[in-house]
Amino acid sequence: MTLSISVDEALDPGLTSFLKTARSVVVLTGAGVSAESGVPTFRDAQQGFWARHDPMQLATPDGFARDPGLVWDWYQWRRKLIAETSPNAGHRAIAELAGQLPGLVVITQNVDGFHQLAGSRHVLELHGNIQRSICSRTRRDIPASWLDAHPDRSPVPSPHHPQGLARPDVVWFGESLDEKLLGAAFAAAQACDLVIVAGTSGVVHPAASIPAVAVEHGARMIEVNPVQTELSRLADWRLVGPSATWLPRLVESLSK
Ligand code: OAD
Repeated sequence: MTLSISVDEALDPGLTSFLKTARSVVVLTGAGVSAESGVPTFRDAQQGFWARHDPMQLATPDGFARDPGLVWDWYQWRRKLIAETSPNAGHRAIAELAGQLPGLVVITQNVDGFHQLAGSRHVLELHGNIQRSICSRTRRDIPASWLDAHPDRSPVPSPHHPQGLARPDVVWFGESLDEKLLGAAFAAAQACDLVIVAGTSGVVHPAASIPAVAVEHGARMIEVNPVQTELSRLADWRLVGPSATWLPRLVESLSK
């Protein structure tokens, strides 16, 4: 049974007491937690990236092979957008929760690095990080100083391979996630007693399987999202509303 709570309602005392006794917590986040920082989500019908751009063109190896300049420019634009914004109260609340619930693991699909900027230490970035670049041929890191030395090139050649190009260190559709990271994420999901799922539509796997694995292994689940998602049916509690409102309320409830 799922209990839905809206922002103008009080938190369920059952949720608060469970949170206080949780020993091992996983927080899975998606683009919605950065929405209130001003970074668009992917699937919002009007403002979402995939409402305005074709993911097959911008977020696949084939799209990059067809037009690497277009893909590079789009990621440069997103990098700049992210650099001009900052973490919000939701990111900060997750870092504070970790202070009170040691061992909390953040598993994020976001590539903006906001969890670390907000102070979270144990973060598994399943889809990479947009601020890092790698060689398209060798996958070796390309330092920012190399990119800065080629300000007018798009795409930027790689220093590591004559046919290589700089590309963002993110996971594109059709690519595999880092096995070690994914293994650590699923191990954390299997071992946790609470999974908090915030700001994700829960449609991109394998990340979207993490809550089900946690629940199958006996964890309870809190979902934070203004709307119902593919994952809502797994939740014990649905906190209906924005994460920058709900996550700080969860932190506050620990001290009451
Ligand atoms: P989506 O755009 O699919 O979903 C964002 C979710 O955030 C939706 O369920 C919204 O209702 C919710 N949301 C919006 N505003 C919110 C707020 N203020 N507080 C809380 N929730 C809010 O984004 P993801 O689920 O992250 O992958 O998408 C998963 C992956 O698909 C991304 O990592 C990306 C994308 O294609 C790759 O690029 C590989």
